[in-house]
Amino acid sequence: MDFLEIKGPQKLHGKVAISGAKNAALPLLTLALLSRRPIKIDNVPNVADVRTLLQLLENLGAVQSFTENSATVDTNSVNSTCANYDIVRKMRASILTLGPLLTRFGHCEVSLPGGCAIGQRPIDLHLKALEIMGANIDIRQGYVIATAPNGLKGANIVFDKITVTGSENIIMAAALAHGTTVISNAAKEPEVVQLCEILNKSGVEIKGIGSAEIEIKGSGGRLLDIADFSVIADRIEAGTYLCAGAITNSEITLANVIPEHLKSLISKLNSMGFEISKTQNSITIKPCKKILSADIETLEYPGFPTDMQAQFMALCTQADGASVIDERLFENRFMHVSELSRMGANIKLTSHTATVYGPTKLTGADVMATDLRASSALVLAALVAEGTTRIHRIYHLDRGYENLEGKLSSLGAKIKRLSE
Ligand code: UD1
Repeated sequence: MDFLEIKGPQKLHGKVAISGAKNAALPLLTLALLSRRPIKIDNVPNVADVRTLLQLLENLGAVQSFTENSATVDTNSVNSTCANYDIVRKMRASILTLGPLLTRFGHCEVSLPGGCAIGQRPIDLHLKALEIMGANIDIRQGYVIATAPNGLKGANIVFDKITVTGSENIIMAAALAHGTTVISNAAKEPEVVQLCEILNKSGVEIKGIGSAEIEIKGSGGRLLDIADFSVIADRIEAGTYLCAGAITNSEITLANVIPEHLKSLISKLNSMGFEISKTQNSITIKPCKKILSADIETLEYPGFPTDMQAQFMALCTQADGASVIDERLFENRFMHVSELSRMGANIKLTSHTATVYGPTKLTGADVMATDLRASSALVLAALVAEGTTRIHRIYHLDRGYENLEGKLSSLGAKIKRLSE
């Protein structure tokens, strides 16, 4: 198994190009199931989750290719509607095939994802919404068995909670449904917005894109003509590199980004003393005299993203004073606290709140990655820790960061991928 070895402390400098967004690419790839013709998508990040989803589409009978960040998927040859446990257990986002398979074929069998390291993560809201649209749902032997022999019908869906993949599943289901679907309390994440925009360009009339109420006029079962498109920049990868610049108090520039999508993080970094300049597609962070503490509460977009919470916590270990981090979305998303503590961080945990006392001198240690973003927090901590840090189980990092060690090396980090 691979691990990362990082030697610190090390200042960073230079420019790094941000990849396409994993969380946008995943629903956009399942969109191929709604397309009459092969679809071609550019700026697809070459990360394990994307390769897993392409594998899942291939298992369904689709023909796919993926080279140089460009993916093509042809679903005309799909001959199975079963997303099996072996793939779903590797990646929860496989649930994004549920809405598209059901709306196109009138039935599907998708393994239940189950809980994960950061919480229970049920899919009850996805299922309830599909039932309101006329689906029959049974849970048998760990699978969601969904049928809608005459297709799904447009309906009024009110989500009890804001759910990102839930909104995406229902938007895709509604795109081929008969009649109009109105989703209230929909997610406003940029990844959801891009999905709606592509559908809109493919002839599906969607009103309220980017708002909490989205209205989708279904095609009545007609497959869509989806033109080639490119995935938006990964705001979480970008945020992670901004925190790398911040924690090492260095000047770095991110290229190929959408600064608008990083407003909540940039405003926090500003309040900590960092000067940040932006162009239309780049962001530069400059060092500050003293890093000030800051409090965050994770929220749905445009609030502070839960996917940046762990990285921000690593940064707070170098800030002067107490920073309070309130995790509102997932009940168990503090697995990185014990590993950061092993590196010398002073963090007090109570229920869903962590208080980080800084600045602390971190020291290199052997640490274990526990989930995708927790792992990147350990990488950030290692950049400022004295000595060598070895981060084990980095398959979590490989799920969502393209060429992490290459990109960090190009910024001057002393980082190597080695095998146990
Ligand atoms: C997506 C992102 C993930 C991010 C999360 C929150 C993808 C592939 N993943 O995950 O990186 O951390 O949004 O921004 O885009 N919930 C229910 N019932 C449901 C669905 C969700 O109770 O049916 C709860 C969840 O347990 C959680 C909250 O709603 O507490 C938000 O979850 P959700 O937005 O659905 O997260 P994901 O879409 O799984």
